[in-house]
Amino acid sequence: MVLAIESPESVCSIDSEASLVTVRARVRATAVDLGFGIVDQTKLVTAASELARNVLRYAQRGRMIIEELDNGDRRGVRVTFEDSGPGIADVELALRDGYTTGDSLGIGLPGAKRLVDELTIDSRPGQGTTVVITAWDS
Ligand SMILES: Nc1ncnc2c1ncn2[C@@H]1O[C@H](COP(=O)(O)OP(=O)(O)OP(=O)(O)O)[C@@H](O)[C@H]1O
Ligand SMILES: [Mg+2]
Repeated sequence: MVLAIESPESVCSIDSEASLVTVRARVRATAVDLGFGIVDQTKLVTAASELARNVLRYAQRGRMIIEELDNGDRRGVRVTFEDSGPGIADVELALRDGYTTGDSLGIGLPGAKRLVDELTIDSRPGQGTTVVITAWDS
């Protein structure tokens, strides 16, 4: 059984460069709280930072929700990034190394996926995008 704990302070808006700093700090604090080691903390923060940056760049604004998980055996965290931006027409393509519509490197999504245990994308063109990452204490 996976128990998710969501408290009001676990929701964070993404709407500026400054909010990205807050996103990273919140995710880092959660990882520390869960007992993640420095390497796992950094992997999670890096993945979250890329996803928040995508929200800001492609949708201008959105929000991040952090939930602490406990499956009775291990502790973990689920971080959700939601926006109501343009959406992603081809999710599989977006997850490919080097694919970009932003004249960038195209490694944010595939890189984030490699840094966590699970990454899922739910997106509808014209409606928005939800990216969920899950990481468990190793
Ligand atoms: N939240 C989002 N809303 C709409 N499109 C998105 C969103 N996130 C990613 N995308 C699309 O997926 C593509 C790939 O994203 P990814 O983060 O891998 O690369 P990038 O942002 O283009 O470059 P990099 O992250 O390396 O600077 C983006 O170019 C964009 O087309
Ligand atoms: Mg990106």
